[in-house]
Amino acid sequence: MSKPKFQSPTGMHDILPQSQAYHDKIYNIVKNIVSFYDFEKIDTPILEDFNLFVRSIGESTDIVEKEMFTLKTKGKDHLALRPEGTAPIMRAYIENGFLSLPQPVRLWYFGPFFRYEKPQAGRFRQFHQFGIEIIGESDPIVDVQSILIMYKILQDLGLKDVIVKINSIGDDKCRPTYRKDLIKYLRSNKSSLCSDCEKRIKTNPLRVLDCKNEKCQQVLLEAPQSVDYLCEECKKHLKDTLEYLDELKIPYSLESKLVRGLDYYTRNVFEIESTISGVVLAGGGRYDNLAKVLGGGEISACGAAAGIERIINEMKQVKSRPILREVPDTFFTQIGPLAKKRSLPILEELRKAGLMIGESFGKNGLKDQLGKASRLGVKAVIILGQKEAINGTILIRSMKTSKQVEVRQEDIVKELKKILKEN
Ligand code: HAM
Repeated sequence: MSKPKFQSPTGMHDILPQSQAYHDKIYNIVKNIVSFYDFEKIDTPILEDFNLFVRSIGESTDIVEKEMFTLKTKGKDHLALRPEGTAPIMRAYIENGFLSLPQPVRLWYFGPFFRYEKPQAGRFRQFHQFGIEIIGESDPIVDVQSILIMYKILQDLGLKDVIVKINSIGDDKCRPTYRKDLIKYLRSNKSSLCSDCEKRIKTNPLRVLDCKNEKCQQVLLEAPQSVDYLCEECKKHLKDTLEYLDELKIPYSLESKLVRGLDYYTRNVFEIESTISGVVLAGGGRYDNLAKVLGGGEISACGAAAGIERIINEMKQVKSRPILREVPDTFFTQIGPLAKKRSLPILEELRKAGLMIGESFGKNGLKDQLGKASRLGVKAVIILGQKEAINGTILIRSMKTSKQVEVRQEDIVKELKKILKEN
């Protein structure tokens, strides 16, 4: 077969019918769990002001520097396809006056996001996330709830082998001293860093910590660690968080190099990783400064998001299968033009009664239609021939007993239910 003339854009994929059951299952489990925890759903636009992300995620982050899909409208607005959900949700919180609601406000979302990344396994240019944001609460218990909810969702999806990696990157009070010492250390090892990290010393030194380059990893072995610089409040925040995690028996490890690639974080940052594949399935943290940066004042907040494609891939690896769509247990066949015409309203009546019925009305031969019925493995077949169509009757054949009964068309729902119950 020759290559099709058009293909989906690089790093962007169709969600084909066979994947929809996974999306549906994830959606339903997320909805179920977050509803229990009193979250309300929010949808924000796919496009946002470009500067919303520059201000919140940070100018010298990979997302803003390299990964944004941007455009100028005819009206000269500079917009970006949303690379993540936290900044838009904080924008919506401020814009819609959610501060006047009882706090914290708990919001959840599910949808597509866009990052101009080099496509590879688990990394796409259009991907899907679900996420939760708890806005207006500084107590570490909500950090733990964010972790717990993500953890429970993964467990309910059959992903039992995961670990929470957690770190604290401090706040405005203690981070500057840490940053200063880190810069000093990195400067003294500058010649051993990769060229990107050499630049990062000036623009975003914390990002050097999660560079995967072997040379940088070596340098980082001796680098100062943020946990050693935490002020009393940040230290207590982390300690309380870990105690709650112990109480919940959620497996975690303290990761001194975990900083995450978004500038809005303060204090706790975390990721949930599969211990089978090593893939990061979810990430999040506290972002107590974001509201202020966006002009909304002092509002503490915390949240997390998970990558749906990565979760589906993981579910496939551990053979956690969603229930595929409901299959019909009855097949409707028709023979002759009058029967074909009568089939449509009868099928509607069966649908309204909540019955799952298969058909292939486009085929006229009984053999073809029965072939499909047997492939579906149905319990009963309805047959409407020319004679029955004239008489106002219809046949129901039980596939188990091969017994066939002729019933009045107006009794079809009642009679079919009876036969299905017997089988
Ligand atoms: P993030 O770590 O950038 O955090 O993304 C969250 C999750 O989205 C990742 O753990 C990963 O599973 C998935 N993901 C990210 N980029 C891609 C990609 N290119 N292809 C496939 N999957 C991807 C955030 O977005 C924050 N907004 C999370 C948050 C919410 N923090 C506080 N509240």
